[in-house]
Amino acid sequence: MGENILSIDTVALDEEKKALKIIDQTKLPGTVEILYLTKQEDIFEAIYLLRVRGAPAIGVAAAIGVYLAALEIDAGDYDGFYAKFKKARDYLDSSRPTAVNLSWALNRMEKVVLDNKGAPPAKLRELLHGEALRIRDEDVQVCKSIGEYGLGLIKDGDGILTHCNAGQLATVNYGTALAPVHLGRERGMNFRVFCDETRPLLQGARLSSFEMVSAGVDTTVICDNMASQVMKNGWVKACFVGCDRVAANGDAANKIGTSGVAILAKHYDIPFYVCAPTSTIDMSIKEGKDIVIEERKDEEVTEMWYKERMAPKGVKVFNPAFDVTDHDLITAVITEYGVARPPYTESFTKIFSRGS
Ligand code: MRU
Repeated sequence: MGENILSIDTVALDEEKKALKIIDQTKLPGTVEILYLTKQEDIFEAIYLLRVRGAPAIGVAAAIGVYLAALEIDAGDYDGFYAKFKKARDYLDSSRPTAVNLSWALNRMEKVVLDNKGAPPAKLRELLHGEALRIRDEDVQVCKSIGEYGLGLIKDGDGILTHCNAGQLATVNYGTALAPVHLGRERGMNFRVFCDETRPLLQGARLSSFEMVSAGVDTTVICDNMASQVMKNGWVKACFVGCDRVAANGDAANKIGTSGVAILAKHYDIPFYVCAPTSTIDMSIKEGKDIVIEERKDEEVTEMWYKERMAPKGVKVFNPAFDVTDHDLITAVITEYGVARPPYTESFTKIFSRGS
């Protein structure tokens, strides 16, 4: 296969090409293809089609994307620049609705422009460049810190179940839910990881298991409906999942199927941990029912990955990309500033104050 996937940046700015550099995740694990994207339509499409995916990675891609848009803006003064910048910002923000990291990163980029009202476009471009790289670099530190806190909750040799991919491929490095495993490996620890395949887009089978095998981790892929049996066998000591948006009360939106895993974990008395950078906690949303859930095309369920269509033409399809896990099913939310436990509204407030 050549280069190990873990040595390749999931998302980066190519300074020479003035391009967003990503691994095309729709082709993994069979083909490792690097894309260099410069046009806004291509960056939008890459996010929508999940060529780059996972909440933190989407945020970083959007930050770099809007910086690239700023390079193309033809405006002589601040007002002209801001009008065009805002259009580009809003366009990228509309590529996917559930992961709050997308608008969080774009808001940070926009704030740079707003805080420097009146500055000439050349200066604004320079500042935007700095902010995009900061967002990217901070992601590595945030994930590493989540990994440290997560590692404190498990012990060497434990079996861990994860859903979707919240690993390095979903971030700049380390991942969130898989960060404890990556960090543990660096320290000579061994975990046994069970990856739910994660229908319909197979992020678990294609991405998490690829990432874990590449890291030399004892990895087992299971169909989503096998999790109960694996838990019943006593093989899972903890579940670790990522998230796309956490409401103030701790309800957490993550890849479709996550809430089912949490319900099973409760049944078998297994701790269920949600790993969330504080950028994924949205205190403006009180409860999970207010989180917008992306719905995707029918074909993802009826034909993608099959040799031929597997459902009759004309059948109705329901294809939500995410679901919300109720806060009372979540043992703890692991952030870069520490482990938040119920009641979440209070513990999140404390967590945020550590970061300020
Ligand atoms: O549709 P995807 O593949 O972007 O969904 C990704 C997830 O649900 C991840 O678990 C989440 O974004 C957290 S990534 C650290």
